[in-house]
Amino acid sequence: MSDTARSFSPMPEKLEKFLDGYQESKVLFAACDFGIFDILRNSSVPQSAADITNMLSSNLDATTRLLDTLVALELLEKTKQEDEWLYNNTEEASKFLTTSSPDSQLAIVSLHNKVGYPQQGNLESAVIEGRVQWMRTFGKSSEDVFRDALYSNEESVLRFTRTMHNMVFSASYALAKVINLTSFSNCCDVGGGVGTLAYALCQYNPQMKITVCDLQPVVTLAHHFRPSVEDCPNQVNVSFMIADFFKPETLPKADLYVLSRILHDWSEEKIDLILSNVFHCLPSGGGLLICEKVLDEDKKGPKRVLLQSLIMLLSTGGKERTASEYKQILHKHGFIDIQVTLVEDSPLIDAILCRKK
Ligand SMILES: C[S@@+](CC[C@H](N)C(=O)[O-])C[C@H]1O[C@@H](n2cnc3c(N)ncnc32)[C@H](O)[C@@H]1O
Repeated sequence: MSDTARSFSPMPEKLEKFLDGYQESKVLFAACDFGIFDILRNSSVPQSAADITNMLSSNLDATTRLLDTLVALELLEKTKQEDEWLYNNTEEASKFLTTSSPDSQLAIVSLHNKVGYPQQGNLESAVIEGRVQWMRTFGKSSEDVFRDALYSNEESVLRFTRTMHNMVFSASYALAKVINLTSFSNCCDVGGGVGTLAYALCQYNPQMKITVCDLQPVVTLAHHFRPSVEDCPNQVNVSFMIADFFKPETLPKADLYVLSRILHDWSEEKIDLILSNVFHCLPSGGGLLICEKVLDEDKKGPKRVLLQSLIMLLSTGGKERTASEYKQILHKHGFIDIQVTLVEDSPLIDAILCRKK
């Protein structure tokens, strides 16, 4: 064995995983974008690469390679019939990656493919410049992503709101279960999207009326996400209203305001505006519930929150914070009795409850 061979260590598995990760992501994104899982779910029999190539008007050899890679990723299965290989969805792909499945995660895949993935390509620029990368990635700037970039048409509003709904659904129930809000009767979920957290809160707080406030395009779509009375018997306590958290006169009166995954979207200057608007609307003794996943105090984790903080840098100009950093901002605005509850079953939101003196 030569000296060179002896001193050359193989790449650790962890590094290999980081190196390849983007390839696997992109294979998944492309397959969903082509609707391959939909094609296979909607076909009564497994399909050959030639059939799928015909439907996609694509290249046979390239499509076969993509399909075989999907088999290796365990998203497709293939079986041989006579001389031909036929492809079908795995159970998991059918459940999560097809349009007609009630558990479909295609909205989040599409958001990653069309927005997150191209933006990640400009991470170096974001780190050098310390700002969002809409201009460099998509050739247009974005002052407020919720007014332009993310909500440019009805389809993109639906994609974003569905993504938020799917992401936060089980986390909302985990949080609602552990946080005591029994002293509040009128709640306003500010920027509450399609009401995902509101429906969870109303289940554990039957005494509370909840108004979900959001921008017009989101409120217009909210009825798609209303749970049935069987699934959510108190859903009648949740209503919707168009409002702008930068305009306090548009917010309804409440004794509890909720800001769930709002503060992490904005610069400190904009956060100051949102918090002073909420403070102004609150009666003395009223509460504010902030739902954000907090970073460990030493910022060594959680990994998912650190990665999310880079996504915020690239896309909205916001960031993730530690509990102490949130406390500092809340103190600055005059909030007291700040209690932080880490919600174990929720990878997406912890609870910071405080009140106005
Ligand atoms: C990251 S999403 C969070 C949604 C929801 N609260 C959750 O926890 O999943 C941010 C929400 O803020 C809403 N939003 C953005 N700008 C707003 C504004 N100026 N006034 C009211 N809502 C706004 C968006 O439409 C979106 O629903």
